[in-house]
Amino acid sequence: MSTPANNDKYLDQTLRPDNWGDYIGQESIKNNLKILLGAAMEREEPPEHLLFYGPAGLGKTTLAHLITKEIGAQMKSTSGPAIERVGDLASILTNLSPGDILFIDEAHRLNKMIEEVLYPAMESGALDIIIGKGPSARTIQLDLPPFTLIAATTRISLLSSPLRSRFSGGTFRLEFYTEKEIQRIVARSAKILGAELAEEAAAEIAKRSRSTPRTANHLLKRCRDYAQVHGDGIIGIDSAAKALELLEIDESGLTANDRRILEILIEKFGGGPVGLQTLAAAASEEEATIGEVCEPYLLQLGFIERTPRGRVATPRAYEHLGKMAPHPQKPLL
Ligand code: ADE
Repeated sequence: MSTPANNDKYLDQTLRPDNWGDYIGQESIKNNLKILLGAAMEREEPPEHLLFYGPAGLGKTTLAHLITKEIGAQMKSTSGPAIERVGDLASILTNLSPGDILFIDEAHRLNKMIEEVLYPAMESGALDIIIGKGPSARTIQLDLPPFTLIAATTRISLLSSPLRSRFSGGTFRLEFYTEKEIQRIVARSAKILGAELAEEAAAEIAKRSRSTPRTANHLLKRCRDYAQVHGDGIIGIDSAAKALELLEIDESGLTANDRRILEILIEKFGGGPVGLQTLAAAASEEEATIGEVCEPYLLQLGFIERTPRGRVATPRAYEHLGKMAPHPQKPLL
C-alpha cells in the first residue's frame, strides 16, 4: 500500500532535511544564516530579506523551509510566474500574518510592475495601490505586517539591481556539492527510505549525480527500483552500476541529452563559439533547458566555456566523447 511517506510523489519532501545537523554541505551559508537568525530571534524581529541563487537542485527551497522551521514561522510559498498581476501580489501580501516567511521561487520571472510594488513592501512594509485611472487616479498606502521575503533564483543576472539591493539580510550563492557530501546525502536518504545501500554504491551514485542532491536522490530511487525488480532489494555496487547504465548516465554524470548537445556543438559548429539560441535551435531543445539544466554542469566540469561570442567546447569535452580536439589556432598578429 502507498502512504505519503513511501509514495514516490511525496519522497522529495520526505527526504528534505529539516534541521541544520541534517543539512549537509554549504557550510559558509549555514554559518552565516545561523548568526543572522539567532540575532533576529534574540531581538524578537523577523529576519531580514534573503536571496538564494545557484543551479537547480542544490537546496534553495530546502533552506527556506529550514529557516522557517528554525524560527518557528509559517511559510507562504509562490513563484515568479504565478504572480501575474499587481492584484495577485497585493492579495498575497495582505494575507500575510506577522512574522510570516514569503517564499518566491523563480524570482527572475517576476515582471517589472510586480517588482516595483515589491520594493516598498520590502523596504518599509508598505503596499502602494493605485486606484482608478487618468487624472482621478489615487494612490493608497496599506501597512503590511512585518514579514521576511526569501527569494530563490537560478538566474540572478536577470533580477533588476534595485530588487537585488533590497535583500538586506544577504545574497547567498549555493555551490555544487563534493562527492563526499553527496555520498553522505544519499546514505541519509537511503536510511529514510528504509533501503540498504552499500558504501560503493553510494559512491557510484555520488560520482554520477552532477554534484546535485536532487539528482542524487533521484538516482538513488531508480537504483532502489532496479535492486527490487532484479535482485534482493539491496542496493549493491553491481545493481547500482546496471541501473545507472540503463539510465544512460555516464561516469561523469552526463545524460544522453548532455552528450547530444556536446556532439552538436562539436560536429555542427566545429566546437563553437556558437550562441545559445542557435545551439538550442539545432538541438530542437528549449534555450532554458540548455541554459539552466545542461550548461551549469558542463561549465562546472570544464567541458564548455562561455565566451562573448558564444559557447565553446573545450579539449576535455572532445576527450570525453572520444574525439580529436582541433589544434589551438595561433593568434593572428
Ligand atoms: N537535500 C537537498 N539538499 C540537501 C543537503 N544539503 N543535505 C541533505 N539533504 C539535502
